[in-house]
Amino acid sequence: MFEKLDRLPQDPILGLMAAFRADLAPHKVDLGVGVYRDDRGATPVLPSVKRAEKGVFEKEITKAYVSPTGNAGFNTEMERLVFGAGHPVLGAKRLRSIQSVGGCGALRLGAELIRLSGPAAVVHVSAPTWANHIPLLGGSGLKLERYPYYDAATGGVDFPAMLAALEKLPQGAVVLLHASCHNPTGADLSEAQWRELLPLLKKRRLLPFLDMAYQGLGTGVAEDAFGIRLLAAELPEALVAVSCSKNFGLYRERVGALHVISETPDAADAVLSQLTRIGRTIYSMPPDHGAAIVQEILTDSALRQQWLDEVSAMRARVTGLRRDLVAALLKACPQRDFSFIARQQGMFSFLGITVEQVRQLREGHHVYMTDDSRINIAGLRADNLEYFARSVAQVVAAY
Ligand code: LMR
Repeated sequence: MFEKLDRLPQDPILGLMAAFRADLAPHKVDLGVGVYRDDRGATPVLPSVKRAEKGVFEKEITKAYVSPTGNAGFNTEMERLVFGAGHPVLGAKRLRSIQSVGGCGALRLGAELIRLSGPAAVVHVSAPTWANHIPLLGGSGLKLERYPYYDAATGGVDFPAMLAALEKLPQGAVVLLHASCHNPTGADLSEAQWRELLPLLKKRRLLPFLDMAYQGLGTGVAEDAFGIRLLAAELPEALVAVSCSKNFGLYRERVGALHVISETPDAADAVLSQLTRIGRTIYSMPPDHGAAIVQEILTDSALRQQWLDEVSAMRARVTGLRRDLVAALLKACPQRDFSFIARQQGMFSFLGITVEQVRQLREGHHVYMTDDSRINIAGLRADNLEYFARSVAQVVAAY
């Protein structure tokens, strides 16, 4: 049976991870996969997570199943973290949440739910968007289209073009929006732009599907959720996919959540029953360990504060690196303007160089980034930043 299957090309981001591991050069630089790194290049377990893990270990008395919707305490805490304690949607009984297998699992659950509700629904994604959005959402059978988003000339969002495209969408179209820390560009909507987007979504009855994989790594934990909180207060329906991989550093534990806002409490109950069935028929129940850690952190005020401080420190490091990188590139490559990198936020930026230049950086300089020239800013550190800037200057001058 299996001899008829074709061998598939490697995933662009995971393939790059493998290529980096196989490179033996001691000075190699990994700006590929989006994991946070500290100033030694490590992705350590957060101290708050270590402490919470001890608490979970001591309190745990069984490994019996939890539930297809996951840990109820985790889901409640995630609702408060994402929407903010006291947000009107929390009391409106129109919000339902399900623990997911990472942010990817939340996106796929949302896509399956949309397909069940409207098999012909089209999901409109930003141009560009995270490479894995396409197979993750498209794999459920939904059709995907793109709306204009990134303006390479300014390094910001081409907001007029985005609005003009969304204005033309038919009622019920789904619009995938990055809540903050846009992956792969680092170009986010401002609060004023979110406010301008809201009446358009309302008037055209578009369904926002918000993806927040980096809460706290842009401007702040509350600030990064601004768009979600604004839309959730005003729109009848929305989906919000959230990941705990980056801000809790729980990558391999695979923990996230899908929050769905429906028009009525009855519709919300139906949605949750459908999501429960979708999960049950794919993996039955999500793994508990990561969710238990997040719950432990968010329900203990001292631990929660420690975690918030750790998120602030990660954010400050990335913001500082953005400024240092702009300065190093200005010195090494003064003929080209990279100042946009300091105006963007989150883990990623597009360098804006060609695929040939990206490959030359990989082959000639052992510097790894995805072919579209997305760099993970957190992969830089004091002892590789200037080498990286000089390498970029060399490939930019050579081509
Ligand atoms: C990334 O964009 O590099 C991360 O979200 C990791 C992944 O799974 O692609």
